[in-house]
Amino acid sequence: MGSLIIEGPAKLSGAVKISGSKNSALPILAATLLFDERVILENIPDLMDIHTMIEILSAARCKVIFSNGVATIDPPTNPNTDIPYELVRKMRASFNVLGPLAAKFQKASVSLPGGCSIGVRPVDYHLEGLQKLGFSTNIEHGIVTAKLEKKVDEVIISLPFPSVGATEHIMTTAAILDGTHTIIENAAMEPEIEDLAIFLNQAGCKILGAGTRRIEVFGVKKVYGCVHRIIPDRIEAGTYIIAIAATMGDALVENLNVSHLISLFDVLRSSKVNLSQICEDKVRVSMNQRPDPVKIQVTPYPGFPTDLQPQIIAFLSRAQGTSTVTETVFKSRFQHVDELRRFGARIEVSDGTAIVHGVEKLSGTQVSATDLRAAAALVIAGLMANGTTLISEVDQIFRGYEKVVEKLSSLSAVIQYRE
Ligand code: EPZ
Repeated sequence: MGSLIIEGPAKLSGAVKISGSKNSALPILAATLLFDERVILENIPDLMDIHTMIEILSAARCKVIFSNGVATIDPPTNPNTDIPYELVRKMRASFNVLGPLAAKFQKASVSLPGGCSIGVRPVDYHLEGLQKLGFSTNIEHGIVTAKLEKKVDEVIISLPFPSVGATEHIMTTAAILDGTHTIIENAAMEPEIEDLAIFLNQAGCKILGAGTRRIEVFGVKKVYGCVHRIIPDRIEAGTYIIAIAATMGDALVENLNVSHLISLFDVLRSSKVNLSQICEDKVRVSMNQRPDPVKIQVTPYPGFPTDLQPQIIAFLSRAQGTSTVTETVFKSRFQHVDELRRFGARIEVSDGTAIVHGVEKLSGTQVSATDLRAAAALVIAGLMANGTTLISEVDQIFRGYEKVVEKLSSLSAVIQYRE
């Protein structure tokens, strides 16, 4: 595991271009298992998690070529439907290949995803959804086997929580259950769900209501090869926007979709960040004071995203007053707080809420990253702090941020990666 060394304080300036969305590319890559024809996906970010998903498709014997942001996927001639543990263990999103494989080939096995530092990460909503779609699911020695047992004409699946992964998994699996009418209630509304539905509908599926709480899927017999461009990564964009504001910089963020970040923009404007030159795919961010304190509820989309919660806490650690950030998606997602305290931040956590007492200055220190978005928060704190910061265990940041050292350097950060 390598380390990042950051010289602070920085004032980020210049311009940064946002890459394609990791959390849109992963479910769409999993959905290519439904196809008998070539699929071409553009604007795919070059990330560790993308390579893991490509390894999984290759394990299913798809032929995948990935270069210059374009993935070309050809279906397997002799498919393998038992995906090995060592691949699925690496990344939770891998679990979402179970349904498409089982729908396409009647039976498939995938290992249960492990937990991670942001929570237990159960898959009960996924399994209940597959069962309602007519699959039997059996778990033995940590391996889940799904088998298509019967055809279902009409089914309503009400999710106890608007789970992104469960919504994507059920929608993708139902897409090719020919003649099955599936209704998903309390569905997740994230832009990545809409992007997945646009991709599948382009291929001949019949999915209505993606992006709302109620999605209808009319299963079709066959999907057709197509070309699809992945939407911009709203979490990468939000991370850079917060970093520019946190360093009291002035910079341009390009190739994003502004409409995916309304809840973040509302919070930043309340804390006196200037957001201007706004048009569909670019925004200018500038800040010339310590932020005003704010109260934030982290909720499913369109609320404030949990994947920007660690980063916004780093930003608010230097506010002129006390802010609160209440997490309702992953209640224990506060591992980054202990590390932020090492910079001199004054943060308490109680009952799913972080209380952030703003301080005037942070000072550079040694910290270690616990998960992908915590790593991003520590980078922001290192850019804000006076002095040198060393972030160890940092390789996981490359799971979600393409060319992060190069992009931050282009914003005039003084940062280097050491193996
Ligand atoms: C997706 O994870 C994202 N990952 C996460 O981003 C993101 O934080 C999360 O959605 C919430 O927005 C990808 O898209 C690859 P959930 P997912 O199912 O689908 C509970 C990142 O940093 N739950 O919406 O796993 C669960 O425990 C990652 O890019 C069940 O109880 O999240 C959690 O409390 C981190 N049973 C809540 O629902 C289930 O069967 C939301 O989880 C499924 C979920």
